Amino acid sequence: MSQKEIVLSGIRATGNLHLGNYFGALSKFVRMQDDYDSMFFIADLHALTTSTDPDKLHANVKNIIAEYLAAGIDPEKATIFVQSDVPEISEMYLLLNMHVGIGELMRTASFKDKARKQLGIKSDRDDIENEIIGNDSNKRVSAGLLTYPTLMAVDILIQKANKVPVGKDQEQHLELTRRFARRFNSFYGVDLFPEPQNFDFGGAPVKVPGLDGSGKMGKSEGNCLYLIDDEKTLRKKVMRAVTDEGPKEPNQPVSQPVENLFTLLELTSAPEIVTQYRNAYADCSIRYGDLKKQLAEDILKITLPIRERILDLQGDEATIARIVKQGAEKARERAAKTLAEVRHIMGIRRFV
Ligand code: ADP
Ligand code: TRP
Repeated sequence: MSQKEIVLSGIRATGNLHLGNYFGALSKFVRMQDDYDSMFFIADLHALTTSTDPDKLHANVKNIIAEYLAAGIDPEKATIFVQSDVPEISEMYLLLNMHVGIGELMRTASFKDKARKQLGIKSDRDDIENEIIGNDSNKRVSAGLLTYPTLMAVDILIQKANKVPVGKDQEQHLELTRRFARRFNSFYGVDLFPEPQNFDFGGAPVKVPGLDGSGKMGKSEGNCLYLIDDEKTLRKKVMRAVTDEGPKEPNQPVSQPVENLFTLLELTSAPEIVTQYRNAYADCSIRYGDLKKQLAEDILKITLPIRERILDLQGDEATIARIVKQGAEKARERAAKTLAEVRHIMGIRRFV
């Protein structure tokens, strides 16, 4: 067994990957794979908590594997696997749920958000417990959604991962994972699970903004630049990005939509270019059209080569199948070992 720290992260199989996923998660996976014992997976069971179209789910799993590989995750260095290929996860999920409170799950921000959506509640109201319990049989919040954090904790704990690179929005889930790990260890008087930490290369976890002036690029926000976007589509989206009327006086504060463009420029362009446009804003000579052209150019330099590889890989099912089979074997080996320990500790023991 290697002495390197274990890194594990996953992305739900809910659609194509966008620049938010790329800078928030995927590019970190690629940088980490040389120095850590790395495991990256596709969370298809988690995807079932919000979407239940069988054909779409399988296609999404396949696409994300192609996108992982195209972005530079190397199956020789990192273990790439599909969550549902490791049935030990599902069994341990049942066992860990015995130590998780429904109250703490109901208070999770992501649960409240998604439960509101499943119930069709438009406002941000927090007091949704009565509607969740209510007896309208057409309105239902799935138990799978409630126990989402248990499943995520199991993904992490079953591999005894130390580092979990994820974007800022996942920090509450990681906090719960640490709490469940501590609770299990202290309840049974064991030292089985390490407490996993988020990981970023220095600096704060990034939040990639949307082009519609909003705070976050996200699938459900409908404001994404996808790795798979062709040149024309991507340019069009960037040229349509929301801006403002332009600075009227020197050193005017920057509005949110324009700051979002600068944030994207900082992620994708050379520092001199960012400085050049910041200065142009400060002295009011900036032309947003030029800024957008530059931004589209620099984003395409990153995404187009990835897009080419995604298209190649999507057509190569045999390679994808081989990689996930090999990945599942490795992931199952470690998972089976932890599950056996958990069963024994909890008193589920076989007659011999
Ligand atoms: P989405 O929010 O589009 O549904 P996911 O929830 O599947 O994306 O996120 C997968 C990974 O990508 C997570 O680690 C998440 O933190 C990260 N991520 C998603 N959107 C962003 C964003 N706009 N900025 C930074 N990281 C992000
Ligand atoms: N909840 C994560 C997301 O929405 C996906 C995920 C599931 C995950 N299990 C995980 C991330 C384990 C890291 C580790 O992005």
